[in-house]
Amino acid sequence: MAAMTEEIDVLLGLIKNPVIEREGMRDFVKGTLEGRACVAVFSRIGKVAAASTATLLIQRFGVDSILFAGVAGAIEPGLKVGDIVVGREFIQWDLDARPLFEYGEVPMLGMTRFPADERDTARLRKAIDRVLAARASDPENSDLTPHLTIVTEGLIATGDRFVGTQAENSRIRSLLPDAKCVEMETAAVAQVCYEHGVPFAAFRILSDSADDSAAMDFQEFLREKAGPIAAQAVVEFLRLPE
Ligand code: ADE
Repeated sequence: MAAMTEEIDVLLGLIKNPVIEREGMRDFVKGTLEGRACVAVFSRIGKVAAASTATLLIQRFGVDSILFAGVAGAIEPGLKVGDIVVGREFIQWDLDARPLFEYGEVPMLGMTRFPADERDTARLRKAIDRVLAARASDPENSDLTPHLTIVTEGLIATGDRFVGTQAENSRIRSLLPDAKCVEMETAAVAQVCYEHGVPFAAFRILSDSADDSAAMDFQEFLREKAGPIAAQAVVEFLRLPE
């Protein structure tokens, strides 16, 4: 599952015997990748879109786990464009029903942070390390070597807003000091997966610094880098033993 067409286009080209099923205005591409049955889908943007797509994947397509690949804006100081965050926990940073519930808490569920599946996350981390190692030995990708690229694991903050000012970045950082990055889908998918008992793992390649120059950096990065890297990581993930 990915939130932007650029992220999923490369992957779609690799799926064998693809069959497209259209449901809820989405194209679900069924087929095999690295010998495994899979369904690839563009989640669309935002929490409602992503949650609805995840529900269809589980209910209609019967998937037994979900992997999310995407881009995000950096929140943790020191992280820069091209670095990669593997999600360990996911929170909806714009969900705030205080004083009735805690900040970020999903009412009725009593959950604030949704955990990533440990096994799939460890496998994902290994896959990403392999992709970076392979790219390091390719001179065309000298800007994305393991030495220059930080891969970190931690909290991903999701909200229905593109964070494009330093002021908003600082506000999120003060609310969630351990947040690594912001984006607009994964905590919603993590909630759906939690409610249905489906393992979930996600990674985000940083496309911008979620500050005043975010919109410009984001467009360029998406086209040039994120799609190919995301697709390679998913392929490596599937190659690794479960
Ligand atoms: N996805 C990529 N960059 C983002 C940002 N700055 N805010 C929200 N979602 C993003």
